[in-house]
Amino acid sequence: MLDQTFRSIAKYAYALNQGPARFVMDPLYEAVCARLLPDSIPLSKGLNAADLSGNLYFRYRGVSRRLTYFIEDWDFSQARPELLTPRQRQMMHTVALGETSGSAVASGFLHAFRTDPELAAFFGTWFVEELNHFIGYHLYLARMGETWPSQRGLDVARVEWTPYSRDPMELAAANMYQELVGFLVYSGFSRQAKDPFLAKMALQFAKDELRHYKFYQQVVARKIRAEPRFRRTVLKVILKATTPYNQVSGGVNNVLHHLEMGSFYFRKREYDLFLREVEYLLGTKLEGFFDWFFKGIAPPCTFCSRELAQCDCEHYEDGKAPETRNPGWWKEVSTTGRRQGELAMSEWIEQVRSMGRPRAAVSAQN
Ligand SMILES: [Fe+2]
Ligand SMILES: [Fe+2]
Repeated sequence: MLDQTFRSIAKYAYALNQGPARFVMDPLYEAVCARLLPDSIPLSKGLNAADLSGNLYFRYRGVSRRLTYFIEDWDFSQARPELLTPRQRQMMHTVALGETSGSAVASGFLHAFRTDPELAAFFGTWFVEELNHFIGYHLYLARMGETWPSQRGLDVARVEWTPYSRDPMELAAANMYQELVGFLVYSGFSRQAKDPFLAKMALQFAKDELRHYKFYQQVVARKIRAEPRFRRTVLKVILKATTPYNQVSGGVNNVLHHLEMGSFYFRKREYDLFLREVEYLLGTKLEGFFDWFFKGIAPPCTFCSRELAQCDCEHYEDGKAPETRNPGWWKEVSTTGRRQGELAMSEWIEQVRSMGRPRAAVSAQN
C-alpha cells in the first residue's frame, strides 16, 4: 500500500521534475544518486578500454555521410494504417509529439553546446537527421487521416522550453538518455507494428536514435573517465526520465499518458539492453534498484501477466485500446495567445510529399 502510494507520487514527480519544481527536486535526486553510486564502484572495463581519442564529431560525421536519406523518398502509398491496432494509432501521436518537440528544444541545446566544438557541430547534423523523423511520422499521420490541427503543431513549437541544465555535459547526458529511450521504444514499436511500412520506418528511426545515443555516450564516457563522479549526474537524468515530453505535452495528465504509452514497448528485451548500457556507463547495473523502479508504471502484460520490463512475449499487442487519460489530446490546443500565427501542417506535408522521388529513381542515380 505504502509502496503504491509512493509510486503514484513518484509518477507525478516525474511529470514535474523538469519544470520550475526541479530546483526543489534535483537535490533529492542527487542524494539518492550519491547513495546508489559510492566512489568505491570502479569504472566498467568497457568504458576504461574505449577509444575516445580525437574529435568525436568527425567520427560521427564519417558514419552519418554514408547513411543520409530523405524520408519523403519512401513510398508512403505503401503505408497500410488500417492494419494498426487502436493502441498503435494512439502511439503514432505520442511518437509524433516527441519528434515535433525538436523546434522547441533546439535553441536550448544549441545555446548550451555553442562553446563545445564537438557538441555544437553535432547539433547541426542531429537536427537535420531528426527532421526525417518529424516529417515521416506526420506523413504517416496524414495517411491515417489524423493530421494534427495546425494549432497543435504550433502549441509544441511555441513552448518556452527550460533546458534540462545549463551545463553542456549534463545536457549531453540527458540527451544521451533520451536518444537511448528513443532507440528502445522505437525498436519495440517497430517489432509490434501491424503495418510493415510503419515497422520499417520505425526501425530506420530506431537506428538513427541508436547512432545519436552512441555519439553522446562517447562524449559522456570521456567525461566520466576524467571525473568518475559524473556518473551520479548520468544516473540523475535517468531517474528523472529526462525527455522533452515533460514540457511539451500540455499538462501533467498528458505527460503521464505518454509515459505509459512508451512504457508499453519497454519489455524485457529493451530492459536488458538498458541495463547493459547502465553497467557500461556507471560500472554497475543497479539491477535490484531498477527492477523496483520500473514496477507498475503501466499495467502488466495481458498475455504473460508479468510486469512489462519482465515480459519476454514475442507478440504482446492484445488489440485493445490503451487506457488513456485523454486520447484526443492531439486535437486540443493548450497554449494561450494562440491567434498569433499558425503552423499549417497539412499544406506543409503536401509540399514535402511532392518533393519525394520514387526509390527506383533514386537508386538509378546512385
Ligand atoms: Fe528522433
Ligand atoms: Fe535522435
